[in-house]
Amino acid sequence: MRRVGLLRRGGDRAIEAGNGDLEHLIRTFNEMLDRLEAENSASSALALAAQEGERQRISRELHDEIGQSLTVALLSLKRVVDRAPDDLREESLVAQEAVRASLEEVRLVAQRLRPGVLADLGLRSALTSLGTEFSRSSGIPVAWELDDELRELSGEVELVLYRIAQEALTNVARHAHATRVDFSLTSSTKGLTLRIRDDGQGGDLREGAGIRGMRERALPIGAELTITARPSGGTDVRLVVPGVEARS
Ligand SMILES: Nc1ncnc2c1ncn2[C@@H]1O[C@H](COP(=O)(O)OP(=O)(O)O)[C@@H](O)[C@H]1O
Ligand SMILES: [Mg+2]
Repeated sequence: MRRVGLLRRGGDRAIEAGNGDLEHLIRTFNEMLDRLEAENSASSALALAAQEGERQRISRELHDEIGQSLTVALLSLKRVVDRAPDDLREESLVAQEAVRASLEEVRLVAQRLRPGVLADLGLRSALTSLGTEFSRSSGIPVAWELDDELRELSGEVELVLYRIAQEALTNVARHAHATRVDFSLTSSTKGLTLRIRDDGQGGDLREGAGIRGMRERALPIGAELTITARPSGGTDVRLVVPGVEARS
């Protein structure tokens, strides 16, 4: 009973032994755990779907509203710069640059909120662009291994893979002090495995909102998440999605 945690699917169950009342009690207890796990997983899925919907809405508004007004401002500033008298030229260039930078920022935030690339270009490109953006901002190179033959995945599974990769990379950038990252997405008879390994300081993980979020995402698609410290130092994040084998 002490070891039970609802974020680990099919976790420990009491052994159904003993006789009479005791066996009955153990069985009922195990059944209760199964039910709680299923209910917890379903409500996590609902909450996450609501959260994704909200993110899409915010992303769209950022892009369509603020992005549009900044674009208009940028275009007007361009005309101002072109016709500005010499003593105002410098200042109007600074203003133009500031607006351009904000526009870029808004685009990045909107993109992070809604992985549009996922829908447009598919999982492979979405993950690669996530990695490129990670390397650009952190200076840490990523070594890739992506199976050529990935089966068609459902949108739900793709989003889970994307969000977990996103959080794992964010954690590397924030906490690991790593010099390289190995990123792989491979399929085997066990299923599809997403793996993000860094060579940073590792250490024990006090699971915060980020890792909790990863577990909550893994649960509804029946995937198993393990995060371990590597013997050589660094952290190893692995997600196995069963039932998604390589094409034969
Ligand atoms: N790749 C990593 N390398 C080193 N420490 C990590 C790594 N990932 C996570 N951690 C540790 O685990 C903790 C919990 O991570 P997380 O749940 O994502 O919360 P947060 O990132 O908000 O701190 C982090 O605060 C950090 O100490
Ligand atoms: Mg985190």
